[in-house]
Amino acid sequence: MENAIILILAYLIGSIPSGLWIGKIFFNTDIREHGSGNLGATNSFRVLGKKAGFVVTILDILKGTAATLLPLLPYLAESSIHPLVLGAVAVVGHMFPIFAGFRGGKAVATSGGVVLGYAWPLFVLLIVGFLISLKITKIVSLSSMIVSVVALIYCVIHTIITGDFALLILVFILSMFIFYRHRANIKRIKEGTEPKVTWI
Ligand code: G3P
Repeated sequence: MENAIILILAYLIGSIPSGLWIGKIFFNTDIREHGSGNLGATNSFRVLGKKAGFVVTILDILKGTAATLLPLLPYLAESSIHPLVLGAVAVVGHMFPIFAGFRGGKAVATSGGVVLGYAWPLFVLLIVGFLISLKITKIVSLSSMIVSVVALIYCVIHTIITGDFALLILVFILSMFIFYRHRANIKRIKEGTEPKVTWI
């Protein structure tokens, strides 16, 4: 019973559509009808502005972290579900949110939150890597994908050293999600039409 409850909770947490609700409540705007149409942090920055975009980014990251940390709650500690499975379920919730017609985001910020909850030094490395990549390429989607490859390389080395496969499997799955959800971005990057940021 605990296992079913904790999996449902992880999905519901991931399903919280931060960008949609902040856009509707404070700007009377559905961000999925503007910009890239994505329900994510980047499009929140683009459509709602820096302050709202920053808040959505933090909330989307925290969804992944919160799901990963669910086993810390007293009753749910009885569950035998691995925290990284909960994180992956939250990312599925973020991509296919029950509270937003199953039209969600591209998995980046919430995946970052899962890493933050389970292996924070890797999260710090990924944030630094993301900012360096963004400074060079000026493209958020490309930087998101580059960072997911960096995470995979880190996890391969981590697995070789420690023998622990859990993080590698999780990061592999999340990277697949991220690349799959960025299909349109990859097409635009190839065509040279992907939008660039000017603030970094
Ligand atoms: O947050 C996802 C990001 O990598 C790309 O978002 O809106 O530019 O497609 P977007």
